[in-house]
Amino acid sequence: MGQSPLPRHVAIIMDGNGRWAQSRGKLRPAGHIEGVKAVRRIVKASRDLGIEVLTLFAFSQENWKRPPLEVRLLMELLMSTLERELPDLHKNGVRLRVIGEHDGLSDALRARIDEAQRLTDANTTLTLVVAVGYGGQWDIAQAAQKLAARGEALNAEAIERELVTHEWPHPDLLIRTGGEYRISNFMLWQLAYTELYFTDLLWPDADIQLLRDALAWYAGRERRYGNVPAPAPDAG
Ligand code: IPE
Ligand code: IPE
Ligand code: MG
Repeated sequence: MGQSPLPRHVAIIMDGNGRWAQSRGKLRPAGHIEGVKAVRRIVKASRDLGIEVLTLFAFSQENWKRPPLEVRLLMELLMSTLERELPDLHKNGVRLRVIGEHDGLSDALRARIDEAQRLTDANTTLTLVVAVGYGGQWDIAQAAQKLAARGEALNAEAIERELVTHEWPHPDLLIRTGGEYRISNFMLWQLAYTELYFTDLLWPDADIQLLRDALAWYAGRERRYGNVPAPAPDAG
């Protein structure tokens, strides 16, 4: 098939925390708290499986519309998780990057993000990209704005270079948990030829088996990028 069976870049839309909680008679925050444990399992599994880049969609631009109490809890969880997990991430060679429009974040959270990015900058085991306040349309628009401000041409190559994800290959595999079949304004540009894996599993239930299942499915895809199928290998 002429492609690596292992994706270099896996992106995940972590959905279903609220429903996980509600199905247990709990409030939505309980689902977010449990979702953090799933993040820890999936980061470890990604390291163990040899993935280069793992992107996690943690908070979309549209998620600012949620009730203020839920938004506050999600921001506090981001902050506390970053604080708690940073030493281990660093020890394990994880390079952390946080992408998105961060105007709405508190100064304290932004400072903590900067610090975490600086600390882990030289790490090479796994790049963990966390999308916070991210929107696919915003990403393309901010790239176009930069080019326009410099009076440069708005062609595809130039836009590509200005996306906040420009240092990584496009996701090879997108996983969305939670049973919805949509992209919800995630990486609209970068998903052009990504293989899309949807599962009903709710995010707090995610563990290494989810990754194994998705990777096994991915290994069976033929990525043609608009071309015709590759010829069968010679019999001799
Ligand atoms: C994903 O779970 C977490 C975020 C979007 C921040 P949800 O909170 O969307 O859970 P559901 O989809 O309501 O179950
Ligand atoms: C997508 O989930 C965003 C994240 C997982 C961060 P949502 O729950 O916000 O998506 P919709 O509203 O169901 O499309
Ligand atoms: Mg949801």
